Amino acid sequence: MTTPAPASPAILGLGVYRPARSVGNEEVAGPIDSSDEWIRTRSGIGNRYFAGAGESLGDMATAAAGKALGEAGVSPGDVSLVLTTTMSNVRQAPPLSAEVAFRIGSNGAGAMDTGAGCAGFCYTLAAAADAVRAGSARYVVVAGVERMTDILDPTDRGTAFIFGDGAGAVVVGPGAEDGIGPVRWGSDGSQLDAIAQPYSWADVRADPTVPAPTLRMAGQQVFRWAVTELAPIARDAVDRAGLTLDDIDVFIPHQANLRITDALVKGIGLSDRVVVAREIVRTGNTSAASIPLAMEQLLSSGEARSGQRALLMGFGSGLLYAAQVVRLP
Ligand code: UT7
Repeated sequence: MTTPAPASPAILGLGVYRPARSVGNEEVAGPIDSSDEWIRTRSGIGNRYFAGAGESLGDMATAAAGKALGEAGVSPGDVSLVLTTTMSNVRQAPPLSAEVAFRIGSNGAGAMDTGAGCAGFCYTLAAAADAVRAGSARYVVVAGVERMTDILDPTDRGTAFIFGDGAGAVVVGPGAEDGIGPVRWGSDGSQLDAIAQPYSWADVRADPTVPAPTLRMAGQQVFRWAVTELAPIARDAVDRAGLTLDDIDVFIPHQANLRITDALVKGIGLSDRVVVAREIVRTGNTSAASIPLAMEQLLSSGEARSGQRALLMGFGSGLLYAAQVVRLP
């Protein structure tokens, strides 16, 4: 394989996978003594998808990545790097990205898993764009994929109704112009416990009475952080792209909570003209998969169009965040 020339990165194709089983609020509300009305009012969520047999992380990421390659018109043999990002892989070895690279027909490509919680897609997209920019890769597959049900406790009131499963992937490669703006990323490790597994698998091995390390979230703390800290970060990403808010057509934040989305729209100062992703209503919070899933929903419904400028913003466990402006594929 020859070394690729440095190039302007762009998103060339997008593909998603939503699991077959659609799960309404009634099903998740039972074990947490909640209701459809409470869940809709507090989070905006009306539905999510839960993965079943034949819908492993590898199955879902492969399906989404295959569609993205098809849409991009890129041959799997031309992919030089596969980056999969997830927070719900309970199997550390082998790396998921090696499986995905092999199954999409890109065996031999570089492969690496990244973990940045719900900010994983924006982080990994930035890494892919920089690899194309630097010439260390020509075509990169970026797949956000989650089986949050593998790390959820269905009886936990703070998380059971929020999360869902699914995958979304893009192909990043040379574009006619720079289609992925500079990333504005960061973290606040002083809030490590805000979204965390209280135990590790090592704790469970050492003491079998320790429960499985399912996810816990200090909902109000995360909510406050998101609505107070993130708007200036998003504006900075627009600035770094050499743009103003008037240049932004579409806003695709991580689908964490509809009220957070609405507060961000206001806090950033986006006008009514800007199309805002609200895929959380149908798909819940799919962590690292939520932004590509939301992007696909806007494009397939015609609410957004290829070539428009979209502000992406991921945030979550860590607490980590990352934002960038992209041209929609
Ligand atoms: O993807 C990673 C990023 N994650 C997020 O951004 C999530 C951020 N946080 C949130 O989305 C919200 O905090 C939640 C949706 C998780 C919770 O909404 P909230 O408005 O912060 O609820 P709360 O925790 O303040 O609880 C309000 C009330 C309480 O009752 P009282 O004290 O007012 O009587 C809770 O006991 O609702 C009660 N409650 C519930 N009731 C029904 C808490 N959880 C539930 C529940 N069902 N699941």
